[in-house]
Amino acid sequence: MRKASIIVAMDAENGIGKNNDLMWRLPNDMRFFKEKTSGSVVIMGRKNYDSIPEKYRPLSNRTNVILSKNPQLKVAGCLVFNTLTECLDHFQNTDEKLFIIGGGEIYRLALQEKCIDEMYISHVESTFSADVFFPEINPIEWKTKVILTQEKDDKHAHGFITKQYSLIGDHNQ
Ligand SMILES: NC(=O)c1ccc[n+]([C@@H]2O[C@H](COP(=O)([O-])OP(=O)(O)OC[C@H]3O[C@@H](n4cnc5c(N)ncnc54)[C@H](OP(=O)(O)O)[C@@H]3O)[C@@H](O)[C@H]2O)c1
Repeated sequence: MRKASIIVAMDAENGIGKNNDLMWRLPNDMRFFKEKTSGSVVIMGRKNYDSIPEKYRPLSNRTNVILSKNPQLKVAGCLVFNTLTECLDHFQNTDEKLFIIGGGEIYRLALQEKCIDEMYISHVESTFSADVFFPEINPIEWKTKVILTQEKDDKHAHGFITKQYSLIGDHNQ
């Protein structure tokens, strides 16, 4: 199966969003997200797409893919698929990197479908009373490496640590 990477920022309770919005403004995490996903395919749930301010969407310099169960949905500048399998099949014979960029339903789906072999998780050092959460992962299945550390400063009300998670072995074995 075609593999994809997850990119996400979560709080200390695995919270990722509230009222269909992000819960923080962390410029260096945004920069990391932009640099990491530029030139690649970004796959997102319809609610996540709706939550992006109009002036920023579709996300520039990336192939934007929306997952929706609505077979009528058409969004200018985006590919729309009704299942994750259909979406992964579409990119089967390409060497473009695929990023799952949320939200909660789509992270859960991708992990259940076992198409994820890498994750970039920014762990934000606070809690925010989220209403959408990242699924629990089994830490023993993943090797981790710290790739970015941000202290709290005048541009960042909260510190965060970004880790790369690489799957140990193969889900399918
Ligand atoms: N912190 C982060 O890194 C981060 C990243 C991204 C998003 N977020 C946050 O996450 C929240 C949104 O997440 P969410 O869980 O509410 O929604 P979501 O995952 O963004 O989108 C859910 C939608 O995806 C479609 N969908 C779900 N399962 C599907 C399937 N099996 N096949 C095809 N389409 C499917 C459905 O669209 P239809 O209703 O059109 O059928 C569903 O309503 C927001 O608060 C956002 O700010 C946080």
